Amino acid sequence: MTESISSGKFISVEGIDGCGKTTQAEFIFDGLVEAGLSVKLVREPGGDPISESIRKLLLHAEESMSDRAEALLMIASRAQLTDKVILPQMIDGKWVVADRYADSTVAYQGGGRGLNVNSLSDINHFGTYTLKPDLTFFIDISIEVANKRMSVSRDRIESAGDNFQQRVRDQYLKLCDNEPERFIVINGEQSIEDIKLEIWNHIKSKFNL
Ligand code: ADP
Ligand code: TYD
Repeated sequence: MTESISSGKFISVEGIDGCGKTTQAEFIFDGLVEAGLSVKLVREPGGDPISESIRKLLLHAEESMSDRAEALLMIASRAQLTDKVILPQMIDGKWVVADRYADSTVAYQGGGRGLNVNSLSDINHFGTYTLKPDLTFFIDISIEVANKRMSVSRDRIESAGDNFQQRVRDQYLKLCDNEPERFIVINGEQSIEDIKLEIWNHIKSKFNL
């Protein structure tokens, strides 16, 4: 199905909690709109009514959730978003900016929870209808800086602790090493404006904007 996509491009933004993803995903969206493109901004888990219901369960469940159930729910939410929102948009030649996508599951449920990374990649392959972002920004910050930025009210996964966040960060860095043609690592400890500019320069040169 993904072979039929002609001109719509897909950009994702990744990183540990508090790295500045949402801030930068919104800037990317604004920049693309200003460049005259038709763009949709989505967030994961969520971005569609069914995916948003799954998000509530994932982030605010009061009972203990099995790691595999957590991974499968993340990917179920992604399948719904991909089929109902992302692919229709791209098939129409439009652009999509995603605040997290499949790499988050490999980083959090693989690196963080310790589930098998190859199994997660296979299930992601199924859940994404084989779609991959054309370009992924990994915004890298230390756990200390992330802790300073995060709000006091943390969701279930944000509360998993520093060692968990460190394993997530390490797994992201492995993903960046494995796919250097797709990932761009951004130093997230610069000012918001400097990061915005660096990201925009990469987008301009990659897509000839
Ligand atoms: P995320 O979506 O990765 O959790 P946000 O974009 O919501 O991160 O940012 C988390 C907090 O950190 C917000 O208060 C935001 O204004 C702030 N922030 C984002 N980027 C930076 C930066 N480069 N320097 C300092 N603070 C930042
Ligand atoms: P998000 O709303 O992006 O949180 P934040 O803006 O604080 O980074 O994501 C919610 C949480 O879900 C976040 O802690 C990361 C986690 N998550 C996973 O564990 N696996 C996944 O596949 C995704 C998409 C998110």
